[in-house]
This record gives sequence, C-alpha cells and structure tokens, in this order.
Amino acid sequence: MEQVATRAKKDIELIEEVNRLRKEKNAVILAHYYQEAVIQELADFVGDSLGLSQQAATTEADIILFAGVHFMAETAKIINPSKKVILPDVNAGCSLADSCPPDEFKKFIDAHPDHMVITYINCSAEIKAMSDIICTSSNAVKIVESLPKDQPLICAPDKNLGKYIMKQTGRDMLLWDGTCMVHEAFSIDKILKLHKEHPDAQFIAHPESDPNILNVASYVGSTTGLINHVKNNPANKFIVATEAGILHEMRKEVPHKTIIPAPAEENNSCACSECGFMKMNTLEKLYLCLKNESPEIHVAEHIREKALIPINRMLELSK
Ligand code: 13P
Ligand code: SF4
Repeated sequence: MEQVATRAKKDIELIEEVNRLRKEKNAVILAHYYQEAVIQELADFVGDSLGLSQQAATTEADIILFAGVHFMAETAKIINPSKKVILPDVNAGCSLADSCPPDEFKKFIDAHPDHMVITYINCSAEIKAMSDIICTSSNAVKIVESLPKDQPLICAPDKNLGKYIMKQTGRDMLLWDGTCMVHEAFSIDKILKLHKEHPDAQFIAHPESDPNILNVASYVGSTTGLINHVKNNPANKFIVATEAGILHEMRKEVPHKTIIPAPAEENNSCACSECGFMKMNTLEKLYLCLKNESPEIHVAEHIREKALIPINRMLELSK
C-alpha cells in the first residue's frame, strides 16, 4: 500500500515536471493509443498512425516528443526536418518494420519494375524512400482504390493488411511476407470460445490480425476506427482484437459499455496482447527524454527527401 502511494507521488511529481518542461521548451507530446494510460493522459494529442502523422505535419512546436515507436518518430522527423524529434526509448522498434530489411526489399521491388509500391507506415525510412505511396490502416483501402485499376501493385510489409485490402478492393497485389507479432498472437479458438460465452458481444479487430480472425469480425479498422465503432455502435459489449493500450481510451469514451480484450494464444498476465516495444516508453523515460532532449531521431537527408514524397502523397489523399 505504502509502495503504491510512493509511486503515485512520484508520478505526480514527474507529470508536474513534464508540464513545466513542455511549456518552457515549446514541446508537443504526441502519443499512440497503445501507450500506457498515464502517457495517453499526459499527451497533447493521442491518435492512430494517420492522426499522429497529420498532427506532426501541422504542429508549431519546436520539439516533438513522440510517445510511440521508432517508425512513428522517424515519420515525424521526415515531415519536420527543422524540428527536434525525440523518443523516450530509442529501442522502441516494431516487429513489422523489422520484417522488411531494406536490401531484401530492394531486390523484391527491382524484380517487379512495373509494380507501384504501396507501403504501410509501419516501416523504416529506407523502405519509405523506396515506396510510391504510404498508407495506414485507416486509409489503406481508400488509397488502393484511388490507384488506376490496371496498375500492378506491391503491398508491404504487412501481409495480413495486404490480404484485407485485396478482399475489400477485389484487387490482386504482390505481398511482402511480414506480420506484427502482437496481432499474429491472437487465438481464433479462444476468441470463438469467448464469443460463445458472451453471445451479446460484437467482435471487432485491427486489420493487422490474421485473415481467419478478420473473417469472423463484425468490424475491422484502425485504432481510431475501433474506438469510434465502440462509441457509435448501439451494442453494449465488445471483444476487441488489438493491442491492450486501446482499452484505456475505449473505457474512457464509453464507461457504461463492457470492453473485453481478445485472448492471445499464449497465456500472459493481462490475458490480453501487449506490444513490448510500445510499452518500453514509461513516464520516467518520457520525463528524462524531455529534460535531456534525447534520444533524438535523425534521418539522413538523401533518404528523408525520398521518403517524404510518398508520405506527402498519403497526407494529400487523406484530407
Ligand atoms: P493504427 O493506430 O494506425 O491503427 O496502427 C496500429 C499499429 O500497429 C501501430 O503500431
Ligand atoms: Fe509494431 Fe505490432 Fe507493436 Fe504496432 S503493435 S508497433 S505493428 S509490433
């Protein structure tokens, strides 16, 4: 009990310091929905990957503190070369981004020179620099639909999102064989069993999940899409297949509704799925990052210039 009180006191002190520093340094804190609740509460803006990129593109702050993973902070830096972009833990990576090494991807696209390359934002700056257009889970279908029907397409790095886009648009695409370890971990058997126990619940999922999971979902969408669905749909109970950080915003938005995290294959302490990379950021690391203005994100200018083109195409199409 005493330990909890000490922790709470320390958190309050850290929050006060962060508030003082962000004003003093004209910093903005952008956080993804998968961050710890305390970080989401502290952020100036919480959103999905598209919303965060749009915020990064319009902010007037001098420093962008990105409470998310490396590719997100890197995207903010590509958009804002003159601003300082900092990330609480520089090791906060992404299994999906890691599944697409630039040298192998180059060979893949060189083997299909007539294909246009549509790339999910969850990838490195080098991969973005080799792409024609970037997408996120909230605009992927719209972006593919905007491309000429006879244009052959490569879609990378998430094969699950790629298959979902193919199903929604009826278009064929060459897919890179990458996945997100968090969304891959959901168990269809456990989800179906849980749904039987809660027949009044709606099952909803993020498109990074396996097709056998998406096939049984009543709604598929980005983190923002899932939150809006829970808010706007008349159902009172939802089983949600995405990273557990989203539960904080959902329960805040609809405290009268029951939100149940979808079970993963392996049993873990929270009976849900957490992204170890997202959870590397802590309140203490966030405070130290703002205080020391480090770790800072850098992108080589020749890569940044190329990576900006497909990001801007996406931002333009998402207005
Ligand atoms: P969105 O928030 O864009 O749905 O992306 C989810 C994700 O996996 C971020 O890493
Ligand atoms: Fe990457 Fe998956 Fe974590 Fe998102 S949830 S950051 S896609 S590993």
